[in-house]
Amino acid sequence: MSLPKLGILPWFLLVILCLCSLCMADVHYYDFFVREANFTRLCNTKTMLVVNDSYPGPEIRVHRGDTVFVNVHNQGSYGFTIHWHGVKQPRNPWSDGPEYITQCPIEPGTNFTYEVILSDEIGTLWWHAHSDWTRGSVHGAFVILPAENETYPFRPPDADQTIILQSWYNEDYLQLIRNSLLTGFAVGTPNAYAINGHLGDTYGCNDTIFRMEVDYQETYLLRIINAAMNEEKFFSIANHTLIVVAQDASYVQRFATDYIMISPGQTVDVLVHADQNIGQYYMVMRNFHDSGAPSNNSITTGIFRYKNSVGGLISNASLVKLPLPDDTNATNSFLGRIRNTRVRQNPRFNVPRRIDRRVYITISTNSIPCSNPECFPLPGRRFVAALNNVSFEFPSVDILQAYYNRSTNGVFTTDFPQEPPEFYNFTGDLAGVNTNVTMGTRAVTLNYGEAVEIVFQATQFGAGGSHPLHLHGFSFYKVGTGSGNFNNVTEPRSYNLVDPPLINTVHVPAKGWVALRFFANNPGVWFMHCHFERHSSWGMDTVFIVKNGATAKTSIRPPPATGMPVCSGA
Ligand code: C2O
Ligand code: CU
Repeated sequence: MSLPKLGILPWFLLVILCLCSLCMADVHYYDFFVREANFTRLCNTKTMLVVNDSYPGPEIRVHRGDTVFVNVHNQGSYGFTIHWHGVKQPRNPWSDGPEYITQCPIEPGTNFTYEVILSDEIGTLWWHAHSDWTRGSVHGAFVILPAENETYPFRPPDADQTIILQSWYNEDYLQLIRNSLLTGFAVGTPNAYAINGHLGDTYGCNDTIFRMEVDYQETYLLRIINAAMNEEKFFSIANHTLIVVAQDASYVQRFATDYIMISPGQTVDVLVHADQNIGQYYMVMRNFHDSGAPSNNSITTGIFRYKNSVGGLISNASLVKLPLPDDTNATNSFLGRIRNTRVRQNPRFNVPRRIDRRVYITISTNSIPCSNPECFPLPGRRFVAALNNVSFEFPSVDILQAYYNRSTNGVFTTDFPQEPPEFYNFTGDLAGVNTNVTMGTRAVTLNYGEAVEIVFQATQFGAGGSHPLHLHGFSFYKVGTGSGNFNNVTEPRSYNLVDPPLINTVHVPAKGWVALRFFANNPGVWFMHCHFERHSSWGMDTVFIVKNGATAKTSIRPPPATGMPVCSGA
């Protein structure tokens, strides 16, 4: 075959094209086969829904700016959806995943291909099911390496390792949440916790333990993901210093610490230098727990093992420097050290200095009368949770479809209160007090490009405590946090607009508040909720709808040509 004759100009174009393909983003294809498989833990065998027969599920590993098509085949017995936690999906809410927010479930025997569009995310994210409590077993890491022509803002690690922190229940996740919603009471605490699927050696059942094999004097990048259902976690490695380098897929100013605190939904990347005596060292995790709700605060172990080490473990798991579960100071001092860094590898620094709108939101757990005679052990009442006294009710067709087709009637309203409907001492003693919580599917509408501030205010209703709040479709800057009730005059004066961390899930401190800022530059329908699954199921959720801008490039993309999963409630 002879090459076609080309003039000077086409050859020139061809060379440009070839050069450009080197710097262009890649497209990747994954298949997720989701079905039940057997797992033995805690001296007990259970069947659970997992991806490609593995727990945790397969790791997605791509480069910054790539696009990933994931074909999800439901070979199980009930519908579910998958969310790409922390991926902003510019203009593409169709593939974001939260059930009844951007899509209906992928029903058994069907499949759906997600188009996951990366932009400036760098480092570690994760994916998980986003329907019922299915994410308990359907989750995995989403690793975003530097682009081909890009470096790390530190000496490249010799290797990396994802560390997924998980809750373990002996019961079935779907049954757990169905029973809880039926009886109006909370799902019990997990039977155990796991690191990368292993329960470790503290539960007395000969369970396997996760071992990370390391070479003396090498440096490792640990990508730590909190995939637990309702538990914030301290994590530490005996005798080793952790150097924090990134959180929620953006780099932070490096700092050294003995432990990290990580909320459900968050990721923290740390460097560890294997510079200790050759041997085996415990890695340990335990809850940070500051609410009145019951908690299983057991320690869970893994092993950081130097190759060729002989003999047993150095130190005892209970001797590892790990804060106590109620150590609020340890949590606050760790979180206070996280600062943005202006390295060129980071997303462009773009914190709003002035805002167009503040949305001030109280967070509460409450109870409401329950007409269902099955309601127990709270006779005649059931637990709910609320944002600004509204407890979110999931519709039966998705909000994105209703919004896009302008058929919102009966699906949702856009009157979510932008400040608390009642003011009182939110962080005072509220024992025995209740608010008038109403049920509703109420969203907030934002104009394209608006500079938005969200202030989350924790309240002492119910069990009180801290909450990890997550917004889909964005990363936001955490510009302020404090204790007590937010003061809209004095607090903004002390905001950090210089190096606020850029994150997607924020720790709202117990009896305190946190302020976030971002530009509403991603048109779509974006879920926002507490990443404690218990709270989200009880209604601690709302939806931010960002309207289209003036041009096609600032508007929601059309839905996928192959169609969206069909809603049975439609
Ligand atoms: Cu990690 Cu709405 O999700
Ligand atoms: Cu919560």
